[in-house]
Amino acid sequence: MNVWELLYLPGLDESLARVEAELRRAVLSPDPLLSEVASHLVDAGGKRLRPALLVAAAAATGAVAGEPVVKGAVAVELVHMGSLYHDDVIDEASSRRGVQSANARWGNLVAILAGDFLLARASEIAAELGTEVVSVLARTIGRLCQGELTQLRYAFSTSRPETAYLDAISRKTASLMAASTRIGALVAGASPGEVEALDDFGHAFGMAFQIWDDIRDLVCTEEELGKPAGHDMLEGTYTLPVIRALADLDSGPELAGLLGRPLDGPEVEKARAIILASDAVSGAISEGRRWADRAAAALASMPAPSSPASTSIAGTPIAGTPIAGTPIASNGIASNGAGRAVPAVRETLAGLAHRLLDDLAVRVG
Ligand code: IPE
Ligand code: IPE
Ligand code: MG
Ligand code: MG
Repeated sequence: MNVWELLYLPGLDESLARVEAELRRAVLSPDPLLSEVASHLVDAGGKRLRPALLVAAAAATGAVAGEPVVKGAVAVELVHMGSLYHDDVIDEASSRRGVQSANARWGNLVAILAGDFLLARASEIAAELGTEVVSVLARTIGRLCQGELTQLRYAFSTSRPETAYLDAISRKTASLMAASTRIGALVAGASPGEVEALDDFGHAFGMAFQIWDDIRDLVCTEEELGKPAGHDMLEGTYTLPVIRALADLDSGPELAGLLGRPLDGPEVEKARAIILASDAVSGAISEGRRWADRAAAALASMPAPSSPASTSIAGTPIAGTPIAGTPIASNGIASNGAGRAVPAVRETLAGLAHRLLDDLAVRVG
């Protein structure tokens, strides 16, 4: 499925094309091997969801993408990709974004170093946007590590509490979504109220997104996912639908007898069949919808658009790329005209998590 069809915002394509060009430049190194490994996942594609959220968050305050927005978007995608290189080592994943994973192709050591390089490049770019942005990203990288660690603590545990699952996804996924929308608001010169509302939105959206992704791992094919299906259970990560099926009096005992140890292919299929026959998937979709509601509520509570900020980012005016006829503030953010498009942008963003889950609900039937 294409997330873009669910997040149509005027001008988003052009902004993301600029992000794409900078992203490709950002992963180059004087070392040809490092360039090749670090470019691997950029070239493979991906949804570019975090850059899109960042650009959309800026737009939700009445700004359009100037240079700081593009740089912020590049920085969050670099952090995301760095975490994916590391995550694929942790999960011993063989594919990612429809191509061979870096660890499968070059080995764990090279993949780890490439992930570190991407995190370093992200920090370098974020530093151009000021100390607050660097600090948000640094805190987020710490949370990603905590999230992965919390998840590892419950590997193969059939008694993983739902609270532990929610805590892990809050750190490993929602934190970077929240950082993306927060940075979008910060570089747009948004008011403190707007910054907090967009941060809350990003977090709640991220929770719904990871629940959506975890359900897809159980119900979609490898071709649809671009990574092996059912891999979460194989690697011992028992996600929300699995936790719900384990707690179910009908499906729980049989599933618990199967899980708790490494499974072979037919056993994964059997576990999948037990889960799909239970109410666990629809229960997990309902939990995702609760987060989608919170995401929408965060945007609904957002103060009216502030006028474009007159202060510069990090004290250094950065030239924005003007959009024809659009005034540019001294921070490089172009105003789209006292928030004319703002209500529409907020509405589109507010409904995004629900559209993802509705699409999945149709798929599940
Ligand atoms: C993958 O994120 C990791 C999760 C948080 C589920 P995405 O699903 O956004 O991955 P790409 O960027 O599209 O490859
Ligand atoms: C996502 O974790 C990676 C991070 C958010 C750091 P997962 O292991 O759940 O994601 P996939 O399934 O590999 O994309
Ligand atoms: Mg993984
Ligand atoms: Mg993982």
